[in-house]
This record gives sequence, C-alpha cells and structure tokens, in this order.
Amino acid sequence: MRQFLDIAGELFTVAVGDPVTRSGGPEVVGYMLASPPGQEQLTWLLSLAVDSTYRRVGIGRRLMLRTLAICRSRGASRVRCTVRPDNRPMLSLARSLNFAEVDEDPHYFGRGKSRKVLELSVS
Ligand SMILES: CC(C)(COP(=O)(O)OP(=O)(O)OC[C@H]1O[C@@H](n2cnc3c(N)ncnc32)[C@H](O)[C@@H]1OP(=O)(O)O)[C@@H](O)C(=O)NCCC(=O)NCCS
Repeated sequence: MRQFLDIAGELFTVAVGDPVTRSGGPEVVGYMLASPPGQEQLTWLLSLAVDSTYRRVGIGRRLMLRTLAICRSRGASRVRCTVRPDNRPMLSLARSLNFAEVDEDPHYFGRGKSRKVLELSVS
C-alpha cells in the first residue's frame, strides 16, 4: 500500500474537516483514490467515501472534481469507475459530472455482485 501511495501521489486525496476535534487534531471526513493513467490513458477511480455525518454538503463532489483535474494533468483521456446499481448517491454524483454508463456486469465482483461501469472523457 505504501508503495502504491508513492506512485499515486495526489491521486490519493483526503478531505479534512474542522481543525479542532475531540482528539485535538485534524479530522479526515472523506477520501478519494484513483489509479495513475494506464493503458490508453485510462484512469480508474478506485475508492471514494465521505463520513456519513458530513454527507450532502458537497465534499464528494469536490473530491471528484479535484481528482478529475489531477487525472487530466497526469495525461488521462478517460476516467472510469464501477458502481453498484443500487448506489443512488454515487450514480447521481457521477451522472451530474457527465459520466456515462458504458457497461453493466452482473458478476463483476463475483457471482451476483453486479456493477455498472461508468466513463467520462477528460481529454
Ligand atoms: C457517494 C458519496 C461519496 C457522495 O458524497 P457526498 O459528499 O455526500 O456528495 P455531495 O454532497 O458532494 O453531493 C454531490 C451529488 O451527489 C448526489 N448525491 C449525494 N448524496 C445523494 C443522495 N443521498 N441521494 C441522491 N443523490 C445524492 C447528488 O447528485 C449531489 O448533488 P446535489 O447535492 O447537487 O443534489 C457518499 O454518499 C458516500 O461516501 N457513500 C458511501 C461510499 C460510496 O458509496 N462510495 C462510492 C463507491 S463507488
């Protein structure tokens, strides 16, 4: 993981909330991880999550926009992500950023674990 993070660099982004928390330190309220561009300048969004108490205030969108800008600056021409068909928040977020559904595999993560594949052109 450490080696991957070295390669990913800014493609691993964290969102930090209030500077002062109960523990007295900065609080991570969300994060996003994308792969460096690979074959055919394709980047995969690997993981995105926002702490449930901080959702619906724009953090997920900001993480996506920042990551997409970094993907572009790293030479990506297409960005893909996979989403569970019943994940309404993520599908809505991705569609609002003009991701289009390019595939749906009913067994993407094994038997019965369906995923939609969404893609955005960033070139
Ligand atoms: C998906 C997720 C990252 C969105 O983060 P967020 O910070 O709440 O999102 P934002 O506040 O930036 O909202 C951006 C858009 O997402 C969509 N959205 C977010 N939550 C939604 C919900 N509960 N229902 C419907 N649409 C939703 C909307 O289009 C929203 O735009 P709007 O506020 O203008 O309507 C968050 O719900 C999450 O962490 N979910 C669990 C982990 C997960 O599913 N990750 C994605 C795996 S593929």
